Amino acid sequence: MSSNARVYARLAGTGSELPPRRLTNEQLAAQLAERGIETSDAWIVERTGIKARHFADPGVNASDLGVAAARRALEAAGRPASDVDLIIVATSTPDMVFPSTATIVQHKLGIAGCPAFDVQAVCAGFIYALSVADAMIRAGSAKCALVIGAEVFSRILDFTDRTTCVLFGDGAGAVLLEASAEPGIVTTELHADGRHLDILCTPGTVSGGEVLGSPLLRMDGQAVFKLAVSVLGEVAHQVLAKAGRTTDDIDFLIPHQANIRIMQSTARKLKLGPERVVVTVQDHGNTSAASIPLALDHGIRTGQVQRGSRLLLEGVGGGFTWGAALVDY
Ligand code: ACO
Repeated sequence: MSSNARVYARLAGTGSELPPRRLTNEQLAAQLAERGIETSDAWIVERTGIKARHFADPGVNASDLGVAAARRALEAAGRPASDVDLIIVATSTPDMVFPSTATIVQHKLGIAGCPAFDVQAVCAGFIYALSVADAMIRAGSAKCALVIGAEVFSRILDFTDRTTCVLFGDGAGAVLLEASAEPGIVTTELHADGRHLDILCTPGTVSGGEVLGSPLLRMDGQAVFKLAVSVLGEVAHQVLAKAGRTTDDIDFLIPHQANIRIMQSTARKLKLGPERVVVTVQDHGNTSAASIPLALDHGIRTGQVQRGSRLLLEGVGGGFTWGAALVDY
């Protein structure tokens, strides 16, 4: 590559990790029934599309899931960890208050020296992290970046609140980006609107040796649903317009996996048939920042997504935050 050639971030490899403990709706409903909380497989499937989720065992943290996903992404790319010169972890369930989960991942990968930091944008976190890594590669400040979404949402679920605890799961997904003369990431689009912070949050904070406020997730599901459907449709058109593309230029939509009805609504707005949407929510539940890279890795490893496929990735999460990325795989 000559010094004045354009540089893009190419997707060299992907990987993912789900903790082995899998709970079907029936199993979760039986556990909740013991606490007097009533739910059913039929309700969960009909309202969300979720059939099962994975929960990490005690002592397994976001960094553990992230490292396993990262190792698989490195293997898929045929690159050693020592090549990595940037690590960004998107998470809302970090191992510690500090240091960042990214530095813990770096240490567990047995490397040192490269920049490593976390991005906090809840379920839009992976799109945010991808966008930052893309910008750093285009600017020449990184050549081989690990971008990871890793979550243990089971730690912040209120298992007395049936309106939220049936929706989420744990997991991690990772991509290895490398500098290339060809895209890659074509363009990204990010947004946030803090006026909506109350409709989806985990408000607790640590102060003077105590947790102040609730450390458990709370959500106004209907308000989130309405906003999610609206901004996801909008941002898809914005990112396409930015790249001078149309919906005909999308081979696969890989959306944040929160609710099948939100995904179907976005696909309908974009006039994409169900065969062009990668869906994993039935098996993973909502894994927040991990959901898009988990779905991407699933699409690639099952052969649905192939080299040359043109992808639209998009996510929305607490804050509110939302964003999209066009990726030529
Ligand atoms: N089992 C059985 N019944 C339930 C359950 C449950 N787990 N949860 C709620 N209900 C009941 C309610 O109590 C209510 O009963 P009522 O009519 O007697 O009061 C009834 O089901 C309907 O409740 P609604 O809240 O109206 O159900 P809705 O169809 O809106 O579905 C849901 C709720 C699934 C949460 C939906 O609003 C949704 O998907 N919202 C978006 C959530 C989301 O995507 N969040 C994540 C996006 S951002 C991020 O990922 C962090």
